[in-house]
Amino acid sequence: MPASLIAPSILASDFSRLGDEVADITRAGCDWIHCDVMDGDFVPNISFGAPIVEASSRHTNLPLDVHLMIQRPDRYLEQFLGIRGVESVTSHLEANHDAGITLDRTRAAGKKAGLSIKPGTPLDQARLLFGRFDILLVMTVEPGFGGQPFMTDMLGKIREAARLREDLGLGFQIEVDGGINVETAALCREAGADVMVAGTSVFKAADRAAEIRKLRG
Ligand code: DX5
Ligand code: ZN
Repeated sequence: MPASLIAPSILASDFSRLGDEVADITRAGCDWIHCDVMDGDFVPNISFGAPIVEASSRHTNLPLDVHLMIQRPDRYLEQFLGIRGVESVTSHLEANHDAGITLDRTRAAGKKAGLSIKPGTPLDQARLLFGRFDILLVMTVEPGFGGQPFMTDMLGKIREAARLREDLGLGFQIEVDGGINVETAALCREAGADVMVAGTSVFKAADRAAEIRKLRG
């Protein structure tokens, strides 16, 4: 089984030392920096917006992986697409008027286009969009907060996504987000996930580099 890519979520970092935190996980050997943008509308929590993503970009050369948990992401897409270092922008199927247009605009800007689905959204609802995204972000907790337990029943959705990807001959990456630790990362990898988002497990680890190595498998 190939090793996974590890994308620590800065939501779990110490915001008062954001630059140092981003530099530290970069040195610790992660692959992407995951930025969780929340609007207090699509999810019941507010995190940060484009200025914090831009500030993070000045402390790493790694790709920034933006996860928009905002209603009507098309309204703010350009702000994020314009940040140097942002290589992927993912938004929610449930939050878009027309997710296909958001995905197309993201690709047109030369970035990877991501589509995310909440735990209660069946993969079937994304069927018409297959071929138009580069990343499928399967939420393994209800979006809104870090530190929640992994929903084991999402493993079936990951397997289904991996199977469909193969059947349709597509090359998108499967990313999982929420409650990822060394044990749940191994389960997701077996189910076919390629990219592990990990907030709490990386930022609260005594040895972040060792944690990233273990998460990678
Ligand atoms: C949840 C966010 C996640 C979250 C992950 O809405 O999308 O990225 O920060 O945090 P942990 O790893 O602590 O579950
Ligand atoms: Zn996220």
